[in-house]
Amino acid sequence: MHINFQLILLLSVTMTHHLTLAQTCNERQLPGPTLVDMCGESGMLMSFLDSFVRKNEKISGICERVTPIETPDPEYDYIVVGGGAAGSVVAARLSEISHWKVLLLEAGDDEPASAQIPSFTTDIEGSSLEWGYLTTNESHACLSTNASCKYAAAKALGGCTVHNGMIYLRGNPTDYNNWVAMGNEGWTWDEVKPFFLKVEDNGEIDRVGRFWHATGGPLFVERSRYQPPFTDSILRAAEEAGFGVSEDLNGDETTGFAIVQTTSKNGVRRSSATSYLRPIRNRENLHISLNTTVTRVIIEDGKAVGVEYFKNDEFKTVRALREVILSAGNVKSPHILLLSGIGPKEHLESMGITVVKDLPGVGSNYHDHPYFMLSFTINENDVYDNDWAVAAEYLAFQTGPLSSYGIAGAIAHIASTATTPDYPDIQIFSAGYQADCAPGEIGALRSTGRRTVTLSALYLHPKSRGRISLASNDPFESPLIWGNFLSEPSDVVGILEGINIVLKLTNSNTLRSHNMTLSMSILEACRGYTFATTEYWKCALHQAVKPVGHGTGSCKMGPKHDAMAVVDHKLRVRGIKGLRVADTSIMPQIITGNTASPTMMIGERVSEFIKESSGLSSESRMGVVPTK
Ligand SMILES: Cc1cc2nc3c(=O)[nH]c(=O)nc-3n(C[C@H](O)[C@H](O)[C@H](O)COP(=O)(O)OP(=O)(O)OC[C@H]3O[C@@H](n4cnc5c(N)ncnc54)[C@H](O)[C@@H]3O)c2cc1C
Ligand SMILES: *[C@@H]1O[C@H](CO)[C@@H](O)[C@H](O)[C@H]1NC(C)=O
Ligand SMILES: *[C@@H]1O[C@H](CO)[C@@H](O)[C@H](O)[C@H]1NC(C)=O
Ligand SMILES: *[C@@H]1O[C@H](CO)[C@@H](O)[C@H](O)[C@H]1NC(C)=O
Ligand SMILES: *[C@@H]1O[C@H](CO)[C@@H](O)[C@H](O)[C@H]1NC(C)=O
Repeated sequence: MHINFQLILLLSVTMTHHLTLAQTCNERQLPGPTLVDMCGESGMLMSFLDSFVRKNEKISGICERVTPIETPDPEYDYIVVGGGAAGSVVAARLSEISHWKVLLLEAGDDEPASAQIPSFTTDIEGSSLEWGYLTTNESHACLSTNASCKYAAAKALGGCTVHNGMIYLRGNPTDYNNWVAMGNEGWTWDEVKPFFLKVEDNGEIDRVGRFWHATGGPLFVERSRYQPPFTDSILRAAEEAGFGVSEDLNGDETTGFAIVQTTSKNGVRRSSATSYLRPIRNRENLHISLNTTVTRVIIEDGKAVGVEYFKNDEFKTVRALREVILSAGNVKSPHILLLSGIGPKEHLESMGITVVKDLPGVGSNYHDHPYFMLSFTINENDVYDNDWAVAAEYLAFQTGPLSSYGIAGAIAHIASTATTPDYPDIQIFSAGYQADCAPGEIGALRSTGRRTVTLSALYLHPKSRGRISLASNDPFESPLIWGNFLSEPSDVVGILEGINIVLKLTNSNTLRSHNMTLSMSILEACRGYTFATTEYWKCALHQAVKPVGHGTGSCKMGPKHDAMAVVDHKLRVRGIKGLRVADTSIMPQIITGNTASPTMMIGERVSEFIKESSGLSSESRMGVVPTK
């Protein structure tokens, strides 16, 4: 290791932060994975950075963390299952009513400090924070990985907002109007927009404007504080190739390339739990129990009266006097319903589960955004984007390459010929220049080859539908997850159009001046086709397309006449009293964008529905921004 001036700077930064930390939180342990766990043995930089980030209040928020309870009380008014994108919102909003006693049960632990650094996003995605789900039984996608796709989902307070790409997109107004056309009253864009605004605290309100955006909500959003110069080349190429550049894909111009906003504040990730739960950590009527896995809902006389959970090697139960809200995500919410006897009758019987309510739609309608990644080399040395100087800058100021996610902020929404110009169906996202695992030395090379960047083509309006079903009645055995991706030919066509957009972009003079060259190994199964022809890409899609992590639809909302609907428009489980589902699983059709903030909107909506139905006056229901 080279002891150099950067190291000395780093140490001095740490010393100052040590002094500013309150004694009590200084002692506090935060869970892993650490940067060393994620990066492996890659030199001293990672272990230094990890321990300094933990001790840095501005980054780890170590003094503002929630204090979980060890053992829940015997009963609560409301029980929220899962503290992810939606569940954190629901727990915070319901506990605003001081005479309601609320319990939040989360299977995972608190957020690791390492997850707070934006540039480590893909590393934390692949870490031990994952549930480790795999899809099975694919016939049209993921064929190169044994007909099985990775299904990314985080097990931690904050759910997938702890390891996701932080991209802040809210979907297209048409998405929500379509939900209403399917029979779901109350979900038009005009009706959901106030709830998006309620979530939001926009750090750039002057740039994005108050028609589409708001300040004062719990979720801070901003543009990354650092953009690699290559991002600018992508935007210039977009102008040149005729795709256009949008100032704000959440605003008037819903198509074109843009630098999107991210769910971060001053260069540090903001999960749903950070945003909604940390500010109210002293609220006495909210209990949070971590490492607590709910195994079923207890139903008596057609009403949910509590849940069974597993914690510290023991099964226990807790009663709910009013309602149980499942926010366990697209895999676990249907899983818990099935384990509780709510689902397709024959399937439950074949698994030896007593049928409580025959609800054929539980687990069906599962879908996600499928995408295909194209890799390119450019004429630059393959230098590590992280080093001692970069790390020191981040620790001191939360600026520079570690405060961003490389070129991943550059995203396009484009309408293919299959849709209308105001309802884009293709997303292009970028990756490269990520300041993550690195040995430390300035100028160190990752390889002797050229630098790689990737552009991915994602289809926003997939028609393929899969299913989540039980593998057994053991609550700890993962359910069978069948994505059935690319079974609908229009999904294949959509991604092919996306590939053409990427190639048109990279053929621009701007990107050609970087000598941007397609660089992908030819897939064994596609050797029969000429590389980079449409026939080749078609073959390659079935081999290598993946779901992006926006799993949706497995407990869909729908009207009474839709036999496959699981919840109604107020997110109440059909035929069971006192039980709602609120997370991505209720979306009848996936939205045109990334799904985290729409899921937080769903959390806001259900909280309002619950407050309404409890007979509280509209003044006392008025959501106040969570403060102490
Ligand atoms: C790799 C990846 C990248 C993504 N990138 C983006 C992005 O850039 N922008 C964006 O908007 N969206 C992104 N998303 C999607 C977004 O994060 C998710 O759609 C969103 O978090 C889903 O919210 P949820 O509340 O439905 O579930 P989750 O956030 O998954 O929360 C569910 C919670 O329930 C807990 N739980 C599960 N089972 C139980 C149980 N039995 N008992 C107790 N607790 C349980 C889980 O541990 C988890 O904390 C990404 C997702 C992934 C996976
Ligand atoms: C491939 O999948 C099948 C069925 O899902 C499984 O039995 C087999 O072990 C898998 N093989 C590998 C190499 O993962
Ligand atoms: C959760 O479980 C892990 C592993 O057993 C343990 O190290 C950690 O302290 C637990 N966290 C809480 C909040 O109970
Ligand atoms: C497996 O796929 C077939 C069609 O390819 C489908 O009919 C079947 O239901 C799937 N099985 C599961 C368990 O999802
Ligand atoms: C452009 O990139 C290709 C592929 O890496 C390389 O073979 C070629 O020499 C490069 N040309 C220039 C001018 O750098």
